[in-house]
Amino acid sequence: MSMVHQQSERRRSITIGISGGSGAVYAVRLLELLPRFYECIDVVLSPSARVVFRQELDMEAPESGLWQLPGMSKEEGEQVVVWEPNNYDAPFASGSNCAEQMVILPCSMSTVASIAHGVEQNLMHHAAGVTLKERKDLILVPRETPLSAIHLRNLTTLAEHGVAIIPAMPGFYGGQKTFDDLINFVLQKIFNRLRLDVRLSKKWGDRQTQNSE
Ligand SMILES: Cc1cc2nc3c(=O)[nH]c(=O)nc-3n(C[C@H](O)[C@H](O)[C@H](O)COP(=O)(O)O)c2cc1C
Repeated sequence: MSMVHQQSERRRSITIGISGGSGAVYAVRLLELLPRFYECIDVVLSPSARVVFRQELDMEAPESGLWQLPGMSKEEGEQVVVWEPNNYDAPFASGSNCAEQMVILPCSMSTVASIAHGVEQNLMHHAAGVTLKERKDLILVPRETPLSAIHLRNLTTLAEHGVAIIPAMPGFYGGQKTFDDLINFVLQKIFNRLRLDVRLSKKWGDRQTQNSE
């Protein structure tokens, strides 16, 4: 199941952070879909994220500039702009020009800790802090297991400040069978939180309807 429509009225921009948690594939799949919904997708990757891209996807993520991912047209690739993690000229570094929504996926426990404690070690942490202070939408997709009490406290701190915590923790109740199904399950949760009308994964009611047929 996959229903992704090109939006005729696209939103202006979204900020995407990619840190060094496992699951670089989530970031790739999300980025490939976003140009249909946003005119500009600003991306910042941590140096560790670039290592994970090599390790998990055998892919070299750009340090800066335009980024045409495998599933993108040339035009879509021109909507995706990568900013170096120490470049505070990025528009989303300031509350005067930050996007309405920011997603960090995967989100490492190190980045969770930095944001939870206001320790802005790079552009990604800073942008998350700006998103919080401006009371815009911040969505984190943490990936770690097991979680220590320190991880849980940091995640709780962020949840208490209105951050959406969507763990990279796919469910199996919708008949998921393939690797793509599991990725889509997590992406669906992100799209729901972004309030975008995208259907990548069955809803619970869909399954019940199917069973009763
Ligand atoms: C292949 C690979 C996978 C990793 N997976 C995770 C992970 O799932 N969760 C996590 O918190 N850290 C993970 N790490 C460790 C982080 O990359 C490391 O803590 C790093 O300092 C995070 O920095 P960043 O938050 O600036 O990206 C992984 C590292 C590598 C090389």
